[in-house]
Amino acid sequence: MNESRNVVVEAPIGVFDSGVGGLTVARELFEILPYEDVVYFGDVGRTPYGGRSKDIIIQFTQQDMAFMLEQKVKFVICACNSASSVALEEIKNDYDIDMIGVIEPGAAAAVKKTRNNRIGVIGTQATVSSNAYAKIIHDVNPDIKVFSLACPLFVPLAEEGYVEKKATYMIARDYLKTMQDVEVDTLILGCTHYPLLKHVISIVMGDEVTLIDSGEETARVALRKLADDNLLNPASSQRPAREGERRFYVSDVPEKFSQVATRFLGKPVDNITRVDISKY
Ligand code: DGL
Repeated sequence: MNESRNVVVEAPIGVFDSGVGGLTVARELFEILPYEDVVYFGDVGRTPYGGRSKDIIIQFTQQDMAFMLEQKVKFVICACNSASSVALEEIKNDYDIDMIGVIEPGAAAAVKKTRNNRIGVIGTQATVSSNAYAKIIHDVNPDIKVFSLACPLFVPLAEEGYVEKKATYMIARDYLKTMQDVEVDTLILGCTHYPLLKHVISIVMGDEVTLIDSGEETARVALRKLADDNLLNPASSQRPAREGERRFYVSDVPEKFSQVATRFLGKPVDNITRVDISKY
């Protein structure tokens, strides 16, 4: 399959994720590319991806991509760490459209930051088992030691808004003890939800450890790529510039998405439409 298509600069940027977590990436994108239109798809009906097998994650990611292409986007961001680490390399050559995931930007930023060549990666089981972050880090510098750890409870804690609770600190201390023991000086937040727990994680890890937010790094890479490829919407240089239009699609009822999105984005979202992803 090779989906050939013309790229239109005014077209929206597509962002997809296993659910609501990718909004932490979208949030960064809205911030640095305010005049771009964005179509977001959250596979809330089949979330989470992080504990699923490779075959299923690939199949879901292909369906998510098919939906993105139907929206005639000009560029795609796979905001989900689990899909980026397990599926992206397998499928990206099947599409005639530029797409990026969140792994390379996060890994590149961590390599630049580390001073003691000891980097920690926390993420879902799928991301950790894939070893995707470590592979990219070792391509750049084989001497860096990478320590990976799955922290699955962080996802529901972030979704439920359990951010500054005692229980969250207890769980974070328990999970992150191994990262402290191996003395990483840089820790990659390798899951969409973890930036919401950044404060807790930074208190537990201490000031000396730099936290890398893959979402933030990915938004920066997207900006650079679009600029290099002359794909920025010309509306951004017109005055008065028009604010980008944001459309949200989900694969189950929108109510929960809407609640969590308000917390993730810091303001309510409207424009949420339900789609049947099984058709793709
Ligand atoms: N979006 C997923 C990730 O970044 C977290 C939630 C899930 O497991 O689907 O890995």
